Amino acid sequence: MGTEGMDEASNMKVVLKHYISGSAQETDMNLTAGTIKLKAPLGSNALVVKNLFLSCDPDMIFKMTGHKREHCDPYTLGSPLTGYGVAKVLDSAHPDFAMDDLVWGITGWEEYSLISDTKNLIKIKNTDVPLSYYTGILGMPGLTAYVGFYELCAPKKGDYVFVSAACGAVGQLLGQFAKLHGCHVVGSAGSPDQVNLLKNKFGFNEAFNYKQEPDYNATLKRYCPEGIDIYFDNVGGKMLDAVLLNLRPHACIVMCGKTSQYHLEHPEGIQNLPSTVTKEARIRGYLAVNYYHLYPKFLEIILTLIKESKVVYVEDISDGLETAQKALVGIINGLNIGKQVVAVNCL
Ligand SMILES: NC(=O)c1ccc[n+]([C@@H]2O[C@H](COP(=O)([O-])OP(=O)(O)OC[C@H]3O[C@@H](n4cnc5c(N)ncnc54)[C@H](OP(=O)(O)O)[C@@H]3O)[C@@H](O)[C@H]2O)c1
Repeated sequence: MGTEGMDEASNMKVVLKHYISGSAQETDMNLTAGTIKLKAPLGSNALVVKNLFLSCDPDMIFKMTGHKREHCDPYTLGSPLTGYGVAKVLDSAHPDFAMDDLVWGITGWEEYSLISDTKNLIKIKNTDVPLSYYTGILGMPGLTAYVGFYELCAPKKGDYVFVSAACGAVGQLLGQFAKLHGCHVVGSAGSPDQVNLLKNKFGFNEAFNYKQEPDYNATLKRYCPEGIDIYFDNVGGKMLDAVLLNLRPHACIVMCGKTSQYHLEHPEGIQNLPSTVTKEARIRGYLAVNYYHLYPKFLEIILTLIKESKVVYVEDISDGLETAQKALVGIINGLNIGKQVVAVNCL
């Protein structure tokens, strides 16, 4: 429905009912009706936007636990979930944004949002690519893969690279960067279809289904017989522990995320850290939000790579806000193939 000339609109939103313990379920959230004023308050520097695409990100599950950790605040019960998204500006009280601008950044899981914190909101200028890409390859996950690989790993041609959650938004791009750099790349993912995608679409040298592997140490010895120079860790937990037993000298572990741990009240411990001493290995964590100054350079590089078909990207788009709960829970249950996105409204 058009909103021109309207002061207020009905606004469906996905709200958190209660904090989760254990795995997230669709029923932990509700789709509720509300209303929103379509004018940004004068002098507020805020924007009113129409949300177009919402990103399903693993750290949203952590925010549903109600625990507070470092930079990650829990969701507020009864309020719409928040996360990365692509939106169109309907009204702006901010000098840098105008009506009809397209933006990506943090927004609400609802049809329309009032965005007061515009600090990391980025205007979309290139629209000859699918707009949904700004939730993934052209957005925060893309920048995460770029920074993790090119800024932090010091990769060399011929390096043995292992990536976990390799079919996800970050993993699929990281693996392709590593291949373009001349590395030998192995990935893990949670289904035969994803393993097939890794080998036959993203060009990984090898891939395996971690859900069918009872002993990760033995699996890594089989798939990475030379050992691992670079581990790009998206999952933490038992996989990280097994990688520590398979490092090559001077290896680098980039700590990007810990998806296997987000829902746990007490994260699993890591037993094999002493290997980093004997292998003189480096462990490096980072937050992509602290590298936004590299975004323009990254965007130029990645748009060229997409246009030259040197990187490919797979996303799983779920249609309609009413599918959002299922889509979000699906990333933990391995239901998605590629980056999970929710299309809220079409332009
Ligand atoms: N450091 C940073 O600044 C930064 C920025 C962005 C993202 N991250 C982190 O990077 C990681 C990857 O992000 P992403 O955007 O690529 O995520 P994503 O595309 O949403 O990928 C999530 C995937 O994780 C896998 N997964 C779910 N539960 C798992 C488990 N118990 N064990 C192993 N894999 C599991 C699922 O794939 P399967 O079907 O293969 O299980 C799922 O598709 C996340 O941990 C995220 O929080 C960090």
